[in-house]
Amino acid sequence: EPGKWVRATSLAELLDRQVIGVDVLGVPVVVYSVDGEVFATYDICSHGKARLSDGYLEGREIECPLHQGTFDVCTGQAVKAPCIEPVRPFQTKIEHDDVLVFIDD
Ligand code: FES
Repeated sequence: EPGKWVRATSLAELLDRQVIGVDVLGVPVVVYSVDGEVFATYDICSHGKARLSDGYLEGREIECPLHQGTFDVCTGQAVKAPCIEPVRPFQTKIEHDDVLVFIDD
């Protein structure tokens, strides 16, 4: 399947909340607002069963709420242990007041 752009949230809500977890076509996605730019990754930590959207965003790093490992939200790369494996990043774009993410298999 080629994949498609799907609306995840409104830009206004994202700017207000900074981090939003949302189910997009059955995929758990978290979108982040970083200095006026929008990024998205898979919402489940690569280390365990925790939602990154329940974590704490500082700059471009999201801290997992369970063991406080961190990821770079721009790339999905793990930054701080115990996180080692990356989380999948998703492309994002803004259309009018909507934040869209690109979902494929
Ligand atoms: Fe996220 Fe352990 S589950 S750091």
